[in-house]
Amino acid sequence: MFHVLVIGAGTMGSTHAAAYAAMDNVKLVGIVDIQTEKYVGLAQRLNAPIFATYEDAMTNIEQVDIVDICLPTYLHKIYVKKAANAGKHVICEKPLARNLEDAREIIEVCKQNNVKLFVGHVLRFFPEYKEAKAQLDQGAIGNPAIVRTTRGGAFPQAWNHWYADFQNSGGLVLDMIIHDFDFLRWCFGDVERVYAKGLLGRGSYPLEYSLVTLRFVNGIIAHVEGTWSHESFSMKFEIAGKTGILDYDSSKDQPLVAVSRGGRGSSGGVAVPESPLKENPYYTELKHFLSCIEKGNDPIVSAEDAFEAMRIALAAIESMQTGQQITLR
Ligand SMILES: NC(=O)c1ccc[n+]([C@@H]2O[C@H](COP(=O)([O-])OP(=O)(O)OC[C@H]3O[C@@H](n4cnc5c(N)ncnc54)[C@H](O)[C@@H]3O)[C@@H](O)[C@H]2O)c1
Repeated sequence: MFHVLVIGAGTMGSTHAAAYAAMDNVKLVGIVDIQTEKYVGLAQRLNAPIFATYEDAMTNIEQVDIVDICLPTYLHKIYVKKAANAGKHVICEKPLARNLEDAREIIEVCKQNNVKLFVGHVLRFFPEYKEAKAQLDQGAIGNPAIVRTTRGGAFPQAWNHWYADFQNSGGLVLDMIIHDFDFLRWCFGDVERVYAKGLLGRGSYPLEYSLVTLRFVNGIIAHVEGTWSHESFSMKFEIAGKTGILDYDSSKDQPLVAVSRGGRGSSGGVAVPESPLKENPYYTELKHFLSCIEKGNDPIVSAEDAFEAMRIALAAIESMQTGQQITLR
């Protein structure tokens, strides 16, 4: 039985806490949030005590094995350090930190304390993305060459408006399309160069938009589009290979489609009927992290993967700010 403490009960904390509450091998031993009144109902529903501070929780809870950090990004480091120094395994939401120095410190403190560190790059657990990676690995579309991804919706509203503070959140690129950077790195390996354009720094709030071009070491080109200028959330990808295309659009009824090139009559579109409604990817992700602790396995997404995704995101931000392409390798 894992005794899990969740810190931060906002959008992600509520999601993680609900996932743990549904697991047989987990006891949700507490939820920490400075807005205790707001989340007392959530805690009651999930049958867990609520605390206003991490220290309060750690003093009053008999056993904590894992601390799950769902705080705003700029607070990750301070709480990962507290948890790791107390000898607790850590699950931390993405992005791992606001800057690379903090991210490295987080990784090191977990190593020094011999505790596991898992980072919530959940896209690897979305059925459509997982399936696309599997199809790529099976050679379903031949050698991939060109990729387009899109992710976005409305500007996020959260506690203390922290997403709107670029110094705290890293904005659209570090916060949001880092999901796609991680997914694409998983599929295609390391990125060599980054070039990006966007609304960053142009005083366009509450509209945000970024278009990032990645050139992978293996020559693949990806256009990664992110937006906080729309209303409803959607995500898409299109991966074009020599012999086929993988196409996904979360706003469509039949979102993931693999189409073979040529011979339309005989080998047309192959629908892969996967839907996010089938399984909750956050549940799958957290289950996977717990199983890695139990069995001593390496996770599907490592802390170093999370660090590399940050490097790409921060290079994109630098490119936007300088107008230059940034070389990573
Ligand atoms: N993986 C994903 O799909 C995904 C989606 C959304 C957000 N995130 C990430 O999750 C993290 C949290 O984002 P969110 O949208 O849930 O934010 P949020 O603002 O909704 O929630 C943060 C919560 O932390 C609480 N809090 C602030 N300081 C605290 C402290 N010192 N101690 C205890 N509680 C404190 C706030 O009261 C708030 O309830 C961010 O790093 C974000 O990038 C990941």
